[in-house]
Amino acid sequence: MKKVEAIIRHIKLDDVRDALDKIGVGQMTVTEVKGAGKQRGYEETYRGTKITIHLRPKIKIETVVEDDKIKEVVETIIKNARTGDIGDGKIFVYPIEEVFRIRTGEKGPDTVKE
Ligand SMILES: Nc1ncnc2c1ncn2[C@@H]1O[C@H](COP(=O)(O)OP(=O)(O)OP(=O)(O)O)[C@@H](O)[C@H]1O
Ligand SMILES: [Mg+2]
Repeated sequence: MKKVEAIIRHIKLDDVRDALDKIGVGQMTVTEVKGAGKQRGYEETYRGTKITIHLRPKIKIETVVEDDKIKEVVETIIKNARTGDIGDGKIFVYPIEEVFRIRTGEKGPDTVKE
C-alpha cells in the first residue's frame, strides 16, 4: 500500500475528486493547507504597498491505495489538477506499513479496497 499526497489548487478539488471517483478511489482525507513551492512566495500590491505573501492556501488530498493503483491515481491527479501555470501543485508518494479498520479490527490491503 502507498499513500498519495497531492497538494493542489482549491479550484481543482471537485475535478480531481470526481476523476478519482471514476477510477474507483473514494477513500480520502482532504485538508486546507498553506504552503510554498519553488517560487517561495509572491509579491502583491495592497493599497499601494507591496506585500509579500510567503504561504499560499492550497488543498491537500491524501489517499491510501494498493500498489497496483498508484500509476493510475497519480496520472488522474496530474491530468485533472493541471492548468499549466506555476503553482499547480505537487504529488508525494509514501510507503504505508499497515492499515487498520477500527470498526472491525481488519488490517491490510483489503481495508483500502472499495
Ligand atoms: N518540496 C516540497 N515540500 C513540501 N511541500 C511542497 C514542496 N513543494 C511544493 N509543496 C507544496 O505544494 C504547493 C504547490 O507547490 P508548487 O506547485 O508551487 O510547486 P513548484 O515546485 O513551485 O512548481 P511550480 O514551478 O509549478 O510552481 C506548495 O504551496 C506547498 O504546499
Ligand atoms: Mg511554485
